[in-house]
Amino acid sequence: MERLEFPKEAFLDGAWRSLPRRFSVVSPATGEVVAEVADCGEEEAKEALEAAVRAFPAWSRATAYERAGVLRRWYELILKHQEPLAQLMALEMGKPLKEGRAEVAYAAGFVEWYAEEAKRIYGETVPSQFPHKRILVRYEPVGPVYGITPWNFPAAMVTRKAAPALAAGCTFVLKPAEESPLTALYLARLFQEAGGPPGVFQVLPTSDPEGVSRPFLEDERIRKLTFTGSTEVGVRLYERAARTLKRVSLELGGGAPVLVFADADLERAVEETLRAKFRNAGESCVAANRIFVEAPIAEAFAQAYAERVRALKVGDPLSEETDIGPLVNEAALRKVQAHVEDALALGARLVVGGEAKGLFFAPTVLLDVKRESLLFREETFGPVAPITVFREEEEAVSWANAFPVGLAAYVFTRDLSRAFRVSEALAYGIVGVNDGVPSTPQAPFGGVKRSGLGREGGKWGLEEYLEVKYVSLGL
Ligand code: SIN
Repeated sequence: MERLEFPKEAFLDGAWRSLPRRFSVVSPATGEVVAEVADCGEEEAKEALEAAVRAFPAWSRATAYERAGVLRRWYELILKHQEPLAQLMALEMGKPLKEGRAEVAYAAGFVEWYAEEAKRIYGETVPSQFPHKRILVRYEPVGPVYGITPWNFPAAMVTRKAAPALAAGCTFVLKPAEESPLTALYLARLFQEAGGPPGVFQVLPTSDPEGVSRPFLEDERIRKLTFTGSTEVGVRLYERAARTLKRVSLELGGGAPVLVFADADLERAVEETLRAKFRNAGESCVAANRIFVEAPIAEAFAQAYAERVRALKVGDPLSEETDIGPLVNEAALRKVQAHVEDALALGARLVVGGEAKGLFFAPTVLLDVKRESLLFREETFGPVAPITVFREEEEAVSWANAFPVGLAAYVFTRDLSRAFRVSEALAYGIVGVNDGVPSTPQAPFGGVKRSGLGREGGKWGLEEYLEVKYVSLGL
C-alpha cells in the first residue's frame, strides 16, 4: 500500500487551521494512533459559524448551474480518491476495505444525484380567483446549516447531508464523530479542490462535541440542524434546537426486524438477511436486529444461515479478504457481549460465534431467542443474528411493530399480496421486500416514532433544506 497522506487540521473558511490542541484517532483494529488531529473548541466553532453566515448570501445567490458544477467536480474527485478514502475508513474505524470502497461509491452517489437535482429546484404558479393577481411559489435555501455525523458511515453520512444542503444553496458546517474525523477532512480537501468557495463547507474535528455544538445550537442565524446518531442524543438536540426554532432532521436508532415467510426464496432470504445483518459488522442503524422465521422453514433457514456466517472472514480491515472488522470501541464490545450473555441466560442456543478477541467479535448466530431478551428489545449494533420462530403473519407483524423505533424492516416472501399487506402494516420508514440493502441516494431514508424526523436522499432530502416562499403579485 502506498503511504497514505491525509489532512489532520480543521477546515475553516476555506483554509486549513492548525491548532496546538490535538486529539488521537486510534485504530480499533490495532490500538495504534493513526493521527493526532486538530481539536477544535468553542472559539473555532464561533469562527466557522461567522464564516458560514458570511458565505451564505453569495452561495445562495450563485446560479444552480454554478452550485451543480462544484458538486459535480466534488463527486468526480471522491470517486477518483476511492482507494485512499476506503483506507482511511479502515484505519480510523475498522471498516473492511471492500466495504469501504462500496461506501465511497454510495457517498459519491449522493453528490452526483444532488449535483443534478440542484438544477431542478423549480417554483410553481397557482391559479388565483382574482384576474389581477398572480400567485408565485419559490423555494429558497433555509440558511446556514450545522451537521453532526456518526462514525459508522464516515463518508456517506457526510455527503447525504452536505450534498442536498449545498445544492439548495445552504452553507454547511460539519462536526464529524471523534472516532472518524479523517474521512470527513479528506472530503473537505476534495471539496476545496473542486472549487468550493470559502465558508461554504467547513469541518471541525473535535474531542469536545458539546463545546463545538453550543454556539451553533444557540445562534438564531443557524437555521437548520441535521444529526445522525442515537435517539437519546437526538432528543436532547431537538429540545435545544427548538429554542431558536431551527428546522431539524434527525436520523436516529433502529433495531430492524426481519420477517422470513415460509413462501420465501430461501437462498435469497439467507443472502439478503446476511447483508442486512453483517454489513458494517452490524454497526448500522438499518442492521437486522431481530430475525423472525416462519415455523415450517425455520430449521432450514437457520442451518443455511449459520453455514454462511461461519464462512465470514474476521480480521484486519486493510486486508482484501476481510468481511468483518473490529467493533469501534470497548463500549460497543461490552454492549454486544452483554446482549449475547443475556440471551444465553434466558435459554437461547448459540450456533456460531459468541467469542471476542480484542475488539473483534465473531459473527454470531443464536436460535430460540426469547422475546424479552435485550437482543430483541434494544439495538445491538454488532455482528449478532438472533433468530426466533413465528407461526402467524399477524403475530410476526405485531412483534415487529412492538418496538418504540421504526427505521427499517425487511420482509421475505414470494406472495405479492403478502408483500403489499405486510409492508403496509409495518410501522417503519423503510421496508426492504426481498432486499437486504434498500439504501440508495435517490430514495427517502428515515424513520418514524423514536427513529427520528425527516428524510435524507432523493427529492425528500432536498426539501429538508428548502423554505417555501409565496409571492402574491397584484398586476
Ligand atoms: C446508518 O447506519 O445510519 C446508515 C446506513 C445506510 O445508509 O444504509
